[in-house]
Amino acid sequence: MHKLCAVEDIAEPGSKGFDSSPKGSVFAVRFDGQVFVYANSCPHLGVNLEWQPDQFLDQEERLIQCCMHGALFKIEDGECLAGPCVGDALTAIPHVVENGELFLAD
Ligand code: FES
Repeated sequence: MHKLCAVEDIAEPGSKGFDSSPKGSVFAVRFDGQVFVYANSCPHLGVNLEWQPDQFLDQEERLIQCCMHGALFKIEDGECLAGPCVGDALTAIPHVVENGELFLAD
């Protein structure tokens, strides 16, 4: 398994990007006691989502937001709720948390 980081390295709520993981560019979000991992690719145009390094959330830190045209995605399942790709979704990346560390699943 490929280690991404310690879970506590991600703010809660907050997000962190990993540009060169074995699954390509991915990012993790900590929210509500859980960790979610998605491919860093907007379903609209395939661009990276973050506004600045490690900044994938909207101002309220309740949704994932694409920096390009502002599409908003649910943290829990990546579904797009608003913007040009409504009804589409981010690609979830299988992952495991073990002993406080976050890994990509094999
Ligand atoms: S590229 Fe993400 S909303 Fe357009």
